[in-house]
Amino acid sequence: MLRCHMPGHKGKSIMPFPELSAIMPYDITEIEGADSLFEASGILLHAEKETAALYGSGAVCYSAGGSTLCIQAMAAKMKAEQRTVIAGRTVHRSFLHACVLLDLPVRFLFPENGDIISGTYPLTAYETALQSCTQTGEKACVYVTSPDYMGHIADIGALAALCRRYDAPLFVDNAHGAHLAFLKENRHPMALGADFCCDSAHKLLPALTGGAWLHCRRSEDAPEMKQYMQMFGSTSPSYLIMQSLETASGWISSSMEQIRYAAAKAELLRRSLSAYHFLGEDPFHLTIAADGVKLSELLRKDGIMWEYADRTCLVLLLSPVMTDGELDKIHAVLQSHADHIPPPAVRPHLTALPERVMSLRQAALSAWETVPLSEAEERICGPVQVPCPPAVPLVLSGERLNREWLKLMAFYGIRTAACVIEK
Ligand SMILES: Cc1ncc(COP(=O)(O)O)c(C=O)c1O
Repeated sequence: MLRCHMPGHKGKSIMPFPELSAIMPYDITEIEGADSLFEASGILLHAEKETAALYGSGAVCYSAGGSTLCIQAMAAKMKAEQRTVIAGRTVHRSFLHACVLLDLPVRFLFPENGDIISGTYPLTAYETALQSCTQTGEKACVYVTSPDYMGHIADIGALAALCRRYDAPLFVDNAHGAHLAFLKENRHPMALGADFCCDSAHKLLPALTGGAWLHCRRSEDAPEMKQYMQMFGSTSPSYLIMQSLETASGWISSSMEQIRYAAAKAELLRRSLSAYHFLGEDPFHLTIAADGVKLSELLRKDGIMWEYADRTCLVLLLSPVMTDGELDKIHAVLQSHADHIPPPAVRPHLTALPERVMSLRQAALSAWETVPLSEAEERICGPVQVPCPPAVPLVLSGERLNREWLKLMAFYGIRTAACVIEK
């Protein structure tokens, strides 16, 4: 057919970037036969159903806007049900921004290990917050980030059981865990009782950047979630990304052995590098407790590009498509530095969350100014400005900056704060 429809490239290669030419013909739009993501009834619905069957979820909604779009839809669901959200403080900025847009009330939990980027939260902390909501007559839900950026996995099964006792739906940011369903032991949130979760298929599985899945336990919820996705997503979701999601699903169903093999090999790699201390439980997050900034310089020279590094750790993200040779190279390089691993710096100690003086929305949408940290004490945090990765905000919009948290910001290399201009 002669392409008298969008996009304007008409499927032709754009000079001077001929490398793109092979994929251009597949970059189409909602033409006859190509279905339409947010009202899918044809090939896209079929692909979504295949992915749901693969994971054993009630329904899956494709996202060409990453987990970010799925998180926005989950937040809208929480808002529509007028729930108070109970959330560990380890949240990605996409959740925070969704809270700002929707004016969603959140009760944040302080991590028992004092680590905001990779916090651990005891079940009792969730239970106390759930009890408190019951006492105040608030309808609650729980939102958990698991795995987090460092590969720490929460006990989703226990949380799901707790949530059921309080009639509180469980939402999981599983952006880093799309592969968890296919390990020897299925640790995917949907298998463990979550009501909704998002998977960034692009983070650890072979999908194009931006490809993600929103899982619903009950298939009846899918049309509502799609309605919310429409509120935030582009009306022109990328067919290339959607194609890559379908391809990733197909790849998974024929590659279970390969996924388990790579996971076993990654675990072996950890065990055999005995000089290193690894954090997190996920096999594909190779998170090393070390001065990641210094270690990353060594890895750069050896031709390894890391995912994330700070003064406490370095994260190498592995994937089931990595070959034996590639995993062996990582092993050899790390082994060669085993006698001089730069030790991790000690993170400033935190004792409590900062005082909240304004709502997330009020503060994030207030007039603000940038001030050096040395002048920010007692000021109110405006919009969060957080480096990505890991995009986990330290102080949140509406919280009062105090000395303890300013020290933490300085530790992570943040030099200025966006502060609300108080009238
Ligand atoms: C924990 C977490 N949640 C959500 C997201 C957003 O995912 P996406 O980039 O697929 O929109 C990220 C991205 O890095 C993340 O690390």
